[in-house]
Amino acid sequence: MPDDVVTMEKIVALCKRRGFVFPSSEIYGGLGSTYDYGHYGVLLKSNVKDAWWRAMLSRDDVVAIDSAILQHPRVWEASGHVGGFSDPLVDCRTCKSRFRADHLDQVACPRKPSKHPGEGPDCDLTQAREFNLMFQTHVGPVQDTASVAYLRPETAQGIFINFKNVLQFARKKPPFGIAQVGKSFRNEITPGNFIFRTREFEQMEMEFFVPPTDTPRWYRYWIEERERWYLELGIRPDHLRVRAHEADELSHYSSGTSDIEYLFPIGWSELEGVADRGSYDLTQHSEHSGEKLEYFDTASGERYVPHVVEPAAGADRAALAFLVDAYDEEDVPVAGDGERTERRTVLRLHPRLAPVKAAVLPLVKKDGQPELAREIAQTLSGVLQVEYDEGGSIGKRYRRQDEIGTPWCLTVDHRSLEDRTVTVRDRDSLGQERVAIDELAQLLAGRLAGPWRSPKLTAVA
Ligand code: GAP
Repeated sequence: MPDDVVTMEKIVALCKRRGFVFPSSEIYGGLGSTYDYGHYGVLLKSNVKDAWWRAMLSRDDVVAIDSAILQHPRVWEASGHVGGFSDPLVDCRTCKSRFRADHLDQVACPRKPSKHPGEGPDCDLTQAREFNLMFQTHVGPVQDTASVAYLRPETAQGIFINFKNVLQFARKKPPFGIAQVGKSFRNEITPGNFIFRTREFEQMEMEFFVPPTDTPRWYRYWIEERERWYLELGIRPDHLRVRAHEADELSHYSSGTSDIEYLFPIGWSELEGVADRGSYDLTQHSEHSGEKLEYFDTASGERYVPHVVEPAAGADRAALAFLVDAYDEEDVPVAGDGERTERRTVLRLHPRLAPVKAAVLPLVKKDGQPELAREIAQTLSGVLQVEYDEGGSIGKRYRRQDEIGTPWCLTVDHRSLEDRTVTVRDRDSLGQERVAIDELAQLLAGRLAGPWRSPKLTAVA
């Protein structure tokens, strides 16, 4: 099996070159591990989030919520984050660097990169101490302990504290779920690997409330369901696996967690966690707030605290996995010269995730072709994300669209003005077909809705 050509460096370079993701605050020298999303990155991540929302809200047992990022500080006491959401840290008194005490063997000493921190002749490490990962701020003008607030480190707690509201207003009963997408913040000690681990990121989390005895069944159900979601969006099955946590890896709230892992260029790493949180969160918030967070089943007369099964995914990390899985390079004939070949980079993204679905390209910038191409782009823009491009040779424009993963290029040529047809070029097979302009919208919408399989599967199988 030939090796995948993708590396993290190539993904970072392509994201920068094509305007997907840039280092944040770049004109000021950047701010460690923060990133800004450009046009195509915004479109890609928004397609990932849309696909997630669609998977959740096409069911009648899941409702949506959008809770505040700033919450009452007692939320984080109840959740265990004030007391327990920390990493052990050591400082080096010599180089003033800070390291995770449990990861010393994975990093290099900044002064002597062939050694680990603590091994160099000048290293002078402090004792390990716990460092809380939550970002603190103050609400209002006074900066005292009474005004302390935290930027949420997960979206989940905003769901638990609204359990009663949703029960009342959405008229749901277990089993049912509450879904949320939004920013979370963690002052990670060792962020890195591009957008894999950052201090500000987006999560897509759903808390599914179930009768306690049904928990094992729903836990298994959501692992399978979430795995299927990635596969349906084109992730290659041999690059996805489920790994159950060992007992000593479990978070303070969890009695069982399985990670859905992706084979990133950095190795198998967590893409999403599915956790059995039991009754931990609702019980904690009941005790700390004094509000009863339970369900009363009028039919059976039973009163209970529902258990929670939580699929928790990262939108940025998922976008990175889709980019990595889609990245490909191949030699193709040079346009208009059957003899020579050139190397092209192509993102073989699932069409539903592709930032741009179709590019409309006039072959030449004259003879009425730009006008007709603009008219087509204008008509299609009501149905799907299209882009009009007339800059540079047709070969260059194809390469540009290949690199951003556009599945179809619609080329307007001299014949288009005579018979109102265009050529539709397929990003993956490079096949071209002639299609009537009036049929384009229906044809492309049909292809977008259909099943899809990564062409990389057949290429490396
Ligand atoms: N509510 C449970 C929870 O937050 P988690 O495993 O800490 O669980 C869930 O986070 C997902 O959020 C992860 O699987 C990952 O995709 C994403 N995530 C977590 N920390 C991240 C970070 N620092 N940068 C980017 N994504 C992150």
